[in-house]
Amino acid sequence: MRKLRIALVGVLAAGALYPIGPSTASAGPAQAPAPAPQALGGPAAHGPGGTSTDLPLRVLARKHGLGIGTAVDMAALEADTEYRELAAREFSAVTAENVMKWAELEPTRGEYNWGPADELVEFARRNGQKVHGHTLLWHSQLPAWLTDGVADGSIDSAELRDIVRNHITTVVKRYRGKVRAWDVVNEAFTDGNFPVLRDTIFHQLLGPDYIAYALRLAHAADPKAKLFLNDYAIDNINPKSTAYYELAKQLRKQRVPMHGMGFQGHLDLQYPLPIDAPQNLARFDKLGLETAFTEVDVRFFLPIDTYKEAGQVGSFNTLLTACLLTPRCVMFTVWGFTDKYSWVPGFFDGQGAATPLDENFQPKAAYRGLQQTLAVASDPNSRRGF
Ligand code: G3I
Repeated sequence: MRKLRIALVGVLAAGALYPIGPSTASAGPAQAPAPAPQALGGPAAHGPGGTSTDLPLRVLARKHGLGIGTAVDMAALEADTEYRELAAREFSAVTAENVMKWAELEPTRGEYNWGPADELVEFARRNGQKVHGHTLLWHSQLPAWLTDGVADGSIDSAELRDIVRNHITTVVKRYRGKVRAWDVVNEAFTDGNFPVLRDTIFHQLLGPDYIAYALRLAHAADPKAKLFLNDYAIDNINPKSTAYYELAKQLRKQRVPMHGMGFQGHLDLQYPLPIDAPQNLARFDKLGLETAFTEVDVRFFLPIDTYKEAGQVGSFNTLLTACLLTPRCVMFTVWGFTDKYSWVPGFFDGQGAATPLDENFQPKAAYRGLQQTLAVASDPNSRRGF
């Protein structure tokens, strides 16, 4: 009953408690410059029952032992003071949006570009944040020397096995003790009703056991790091999330070091709300796995209106509530916290406003919804780690 109460509160916080009125989110052409941004973690506004709601997300999440994270755009972190200050104030976890991907880390074979990733790790250390490493093996953002080498046949199975071992070992060892968890393999399965392992260069040349191989390499390089698989469109119970559930069971049975499942949480208001996310996460939790929402944003076709705003609030809170209801859900990470730097407009024509803060760093209803759910959820599971 207590757990159901959180769920109901989470959903109520989405709809009933928010003035569905004009939104601060940008609805279209550039508007007049916003007033000086209010400190998001300003004077605590007391809601019903004396709950202090207007605190930074990381402060509100702490009572649940939950990590609240964001993907970090390193160019913005370096150039934008307000972005940097909010990234430090609001979040207890950070994920490199791009700079820990293979193409960015090892653009030339054997030559690493550690700078930006090192800067993020140092930023996290300075701000008492955990780092979620993203990502070791993915079919996207691979360096040309690797993909070209496989394509022209100059890199065969044996050499790819060595290349993968060198990359994973080099990267994970460098950040040993500094990266709490790694997305070891990202987006391994295809979409749709009959998901199969994607036909990536790793699957082609190393076979389906490439996933176990990568997990074992990462574990050898940092035995304390939590090792995740990570994918999108698996937030509810569906053939793709079930494919991961079966794979996780198999890997655990084979004593392969898989410790967590990452649910990216890229939602779109034109698709059904994943209301069975709690049941979905619960089955992974029962396997003894950590779970995390790793890349949450909620996109829709602009302009925004009162209903899309309410839908966005409900969507963020549905996933956050699912995490709070899951004992080993350790982290809730948004894929960028401000519309100013979101990846969405560049990838989905006509869509945007997908993050909790608008392009002037002003809190949107989605941000207020996250605050309130964290503040009113009264059933902290015994999480550790954050
Ligand atoms: O670094 C190059 C730069 O040298 C070049 O000048 C510039 C122009 O071509 O491109 C830069 O690379 C871009 C990269 O982001 C870094 O900014 C790529 O073109 C661009 O495609 C890439 O987009 C990233 C996208 O993954 C690639 O699929 C997004 O920023 C990033 O938010 C997005 O994140 C992924 C997660 O890693 C996995 N889950 C899905 C999520 C959204 O696609």
